[in-house]
Amino acid sequence: MSAQRQETVRRLAAPDITDRKGKTPIVCLTAYTAPMAALLDEACDLLLVGDSVGMVIHGLPNTVGVTMEMMILHGQAVMRGSRRAMVVVDMPFGSYEGSAQEAYANAARLMKETGAQAVKVESGPTVAETIDYMVKRGIPVMGHVGLRPQAVLVDGGFRAKGRGEAERTRILDEARATAQAGAFAVVIEGVAEGLAREITEAVNVPTIGIGASAGCDGQILVTDDMLGLFDWTPKFVRRYADLRGEILRAVETYAADVQARRFPGPAEIYFPKAG
Ligand code: KIV
Repeated sequence: MSAQRQETVRRLAAPDITDRKGKTPIVCLTAYTAPMAALLDEACDLLLVGDSVGMVIHGLPNTVGVTMEMMILHGQAVMRGSRRAMVVVDMPFGSYEGSAQEAYANAARLMKETGAQAVKVESGPTVAETIDYMVKRGIPVMGHVGLRPQAVLVDGGFRAKGRGEAERTRILDEARATAQAGAFAVVIEGVAEGLAREITEAVNVPTIGIGASAGCDGQILVTDDMLGLFDWTPKFVRRYADLRGEILRAVETYAADVQARRFPGPAEIYFPKAG
């Protein structure tokens, strides 16, 4: 047995999140890197390695171009940086829609190579069968209904969903099918409060809202949005900091110091050893 003291912190897992249905709201944020995961770990129940990483970190126009390799690399980093929060990795576009068997193989690869506790899929009309197949074979799955970023090319943009009666009914049915298929939680994105509350009442697993009101069982935001790292913020985001302003001010000051030879100063240089 190792002489080192064993870490006693237990990482949260899918059943812990499911147990929170209707209780204290579940705190979730996205994370893509080890240092950010370390900063978020204590306050968050769940860290999502979202495929938003493609837009936030890699400068892609949408999430369609995100690959398995990108998700694995960022999933590994977030696992290294965190120790308490449950880590969920998004299955990228094209990795789960073809067949349940292909989805299972890709989900198993994501979990083996990252060590994450679950995967997330966007729950289109045909995905419930795939969720059922994966859950029965040991993969905890989180669903995602409403605005589905991976469908942006079909939908023609990122717009709030469920405003008309037919779409409202379809989203409610997809959420029900996702929960019945065995998902441990369901993200609801970009829908009005009434629909978010109806889904939350209709399903027996927690709903995690993003642009879906406080009527959900938990909330998630893209961390970089809530920290104010971009000059534009979506309507549903509250900016808890202005890191973009802080960074711009810091870089401006650094540039001025370098140009005026104020940096480095005596405290920031090496001297020969005395004697
Ligand atoms: O990719 C992502 O970050 C997400 C969240 C916005 C829910 O799916």
